[in-house]
Amino acid sequence: MIFNPFSLLGKNIIITGASSGIGRQCAITCSMMGANVTLFGRDQSRLEETLKQMEEPVRHLSCAIDLTEYDKIEEATREIVKKTGRINGLINCAGISSTLPLNAISPQKMEQFFQTNVICAINLTRQVVKSPNFSESGGSIIFIASVMGVVGENGKTLYSMTKGALVSAVKSISVELAPRKIRVNAVSPGVVETPMSENAIYSRNEESLNKIRAMHPLGLGQPADVANACVVLLSDASRWITGTNMIVDGGYLAR
Ligand SMILES: NC(=O)c1ccc[n+]([C@@H]2O[C@H](COP(=O)([O-])OP(=O)(O)OC[C@H]3O[C@@H](n4cnc5c(N)ncnc54)[C@H](OP(=O)(O)O)[C@@H]3O)[C@@H](O)[C@H]2O)c1
Repeated sequence: MIFNPFSLLGKNIIITGASSGIGRQCAITCSMMGANVTLFGRDQSRLEETLKQMEEPVRHLSCAIDLTEYDKIEEATREIVKKTGRINGLINCAGISSTLPLNAISPQKMEQFFQTNVICAINLTRQVVKSPNFSESGGSIIFIASVMGVVGENGKTLYSMTKGALVSAVKSISVELAPRKIRVNAVSPGVVETPMSENAIYSRNEESLNKIRAMHPLGLGQPADVANACVVLLSDASRWITGTNMIVDGGYLAR
């Protein structure tokens, strides 16, 4: 048998946002790399659709839950651990996006975005890393942030604030969890072709989409480009990588 440091064989991985786009592809790719995956999303039928595309669907679980229902997360995590055994990794991928000028960012909008993009991810992470839930030999937590957490763009204040919060949170959480060998990193994609980017304002006409394409020297990303980066961070090959923000952007930030 050939040694593969990137293998996820036998690792129990939870992935949020697994009913669509990047999260769905992370689930498919992790299953191909040998992981046993638990899929989180709100829509059971879309989770089933993901399951069908995964390697050996019977090996995996799905959990239809709205992550903003904070009180349900502790029990849901405990139930998953009962079924799968302790957790080795988590990808916090669920998220929402917007393009809004500053004067349209009401306090209600800010609360909604921070709830979904930040609080849900930190709340789930807090439950997952509780000692009875997480592998005693350590593991890996990933937050899907965005290049918008590092640089700015017109109309991106709201989204950027939430993604920047994740990039910052990763640093302190990684320090706190390092003694337990739990590594914590962000992955920051540029524009990736998913339902989220297809619904964005810039996708409404070819001219503005071309402008976005031109900002990415390697072209727009595919969900697999982000999923492959996540495999590296979930695997033992990255055992010395923590507290970082891995940029996966086709050169967007290099310009
Ligand atoms: N696409 C891009 O260009 C891009 C670039 C940089 C970063 N990102 C980030 O990558 C992540 C995935 O984006 P995507 O493009 O794959 O988006 P997507 O196709 O719209 O998928 C979003 C996922 O988030 C889930 N979700 C949203 N709110 C939720 C909630 N309250 N509870 C549970 N699940 C919830 C959705 O599940 P439901 O089935 O329940 O709706 C869906 O599975 C996001 O964090 C996004 O900010 C995307």
